[in-house]
Amino acid sequence: MDNLFLCEYLGTPPRHSKFIDQVDRVFRKVIPWIRIGSYWRGQMASIESRMNLFHLANQVLLMQIEGDFVEVGCHAGESTVILKKILREKDSSRNLYAFDSFQGVPESVNADEGVYKKGDMSASLEKFNKHFEQVGLDKPITIPGWFVDTLESSLPGKIAFALIDADLYNSTLFALQNVYPRLSPGGICLMGVYWDPNTKVEMTTDPNYKSPGVKKACDEFLADKPEKVNILIAGNYTSAYFRKV
Ligand SMILES: C[S@@+](CC[C@H](N)C(=O)[O-])C[C@H]1O[C@@H](n2cnc3c(N)ncnc32)[C@H](O)[C@@H]1O
Repeated sequence: MDNLFLCEYLGTPPRHSKFIDQVDRVFRKVIPWIRIGSYWRGQMASIESRMNLFHLANQVLLMQIEGDFVEVGCHAGESTVILKKILREKDSSRNLYAFDSFQGVPESVNADEGVYKKGDMSASLEKFNKHFEQVGLDKPITIPGWFVDTLESSLPGKIAFALIDADLYNSTLFALQNVYPRLSPGGICLMGVYWDPNTKVEMTTDPNYKSPGVKKACDEFLADKPEKVNILIAGNYTSAYFRKV
């Protein structure tokens, strides 16, 4: 299976632009809630993060790990369409579940260090559905609502691959608490954005992708578990994953 659709689907994510980042920084000093960079780029996931997603999702299929695919924090479906395409080509017997409030992130807490405010990163369910029509794929099982109201009751019993992309401490911790027990041995949990200030690579410096709460939630949740987080370069930010032991 080739991976050209990573660029063809919904357009190629624009490259990291130093100029846009400078404009962004100036704007954020004057009007802190404005994020020119992300709006300008108009795409959530970089091409590198789409490639990570492609290879890790394919890996669990090749390894015949039992279970469905889930995306916790699907936004407008830019990664969901990739997962759906992979399942359609490789194993249409598995379901894909997509969770989101479709009204952006909830209130943040201290651990999030003020990076996000309520309603940031909002994408409508209509936009999500339109993206599936645009690329000619059937829609996944979509569960709108806050994670606290949806995950426990609607996550599938067995998960082979999970993309948790929730940006905030509480959202990530709650997602981990619910996904982890359902994740099959050998299954992969990928964190869409995982910012570690100790990772000295230039890619992590884009302020639009700082998400201190995600690392804190992962560190706390995995502290008494055998799984270790692996950090992945994803263009101008970093992702991370662990494989269930
Ligand atoms: C970074 S975006 C996801 C991007 C998407 N995975 C992609 O690759 O295009 C984060 C999403 O998580 C959702 N979200 C965060 N916390 C949530 C919560 N507690 N309940 C429901 N949705 C939440 C937001 O609405 C937002 O759409």
